[in-house]
Amino acid sequence: MRVYMNQKRIPAHVAIIMDGNGRWAEAHGKERYEGHIEGVHSVKKCIKAALRNGVKYLTLYAFSTENWGRPAEEVNALMELFCKSVMDNTAELAGQGVRVRMIGRRDRFSERVCHHLNAIEEQTAAGEKLTLVLAFDYSSRDEIKSAVRSIAAAVAEGRLSVEQISEQTISDALYTAEIPDPDFIVRTSGECRLSNFLLWQASYAEMYFPSVMWPEFDENEFDKAMNVYAERNRRYGKL
Ligand code: IPE
Ligand code: IPE
Ligand code: MG
Repeated sequence: MRVYMNQKRIPAHVAIIMDGNGRWAEAHGKERYEGHIEGVHSVKKCIKAALRNGVKYLTLYAFSTENWGRPAEEVNALMELFCKSVMDNTAELAGQGVRVRMIGRRDRFSERVCHHLNAIEEQTAAGEKLTLVLAFDYSSRDEIKSAVRSIAAAVAEGRLSVEQISEQTISDALYTAEIPDPDFIVRTSGECRLSNFLLWQASYAEMYFPSVMWPEFDENEFDKAMNVYAERNRRYGKL
């Protein structure tokens, strides 16, 4: 049931699979990396829109563990773009009250990327308006595998009994511990799949698959998505 006519339901946590940079570039006669550069502008627009709408957590899927399988030239361009984006935007994010948290593996990046990854987390740690979660070298199965390993180790060392393992134990062992589950998952470019994103956390998330490519996703598209969410009826298996 709708709450009040003028009081829109806002998702606390929006998670976005930013897809379609390459296709957008191709359609505009540009190189794929130019699509990724354009995609950074969309990220900035969405952060603004998330702040304005009162969203508390915004998770962005920026690089999957499978994306390492792309040609080295594209992988390197994406890594460079990450470093440049951190350098160009950290101060502004801190000023906006945005706290950045990275989720994903940390053992496969160059020193330079690690440096920027730590820098953005440290320099935005005081942000209280919005938590921006960047999924970078992230995949859900890899995350679950790590969680199972840490829980198994705790059992083997006698710190935890098998009976004590609860759903919360598993949630707490994921990269996303302390981050509430996503309420709303958006994937641009019309593809209707999760591509190894937040599989555990997405159990009751609403989903939306707009056909626009990520470089075309702006504040107006974000507001449109908020309207789609507001119309959803979440039942959680109940009546
Ligand atoms: C999303 O755009 C960005 C990343 C996966 C890093 P793509 O690069 O997947 O663009 P398409 O899907 O090929 O159009
Ligand atoms: C998912 O997009 C990963 C990111 C957006 C970072 P992909 O373009 O890599 O996914 P598939 O290959 O279409 O499933
Ligand atoms: Mg893609």
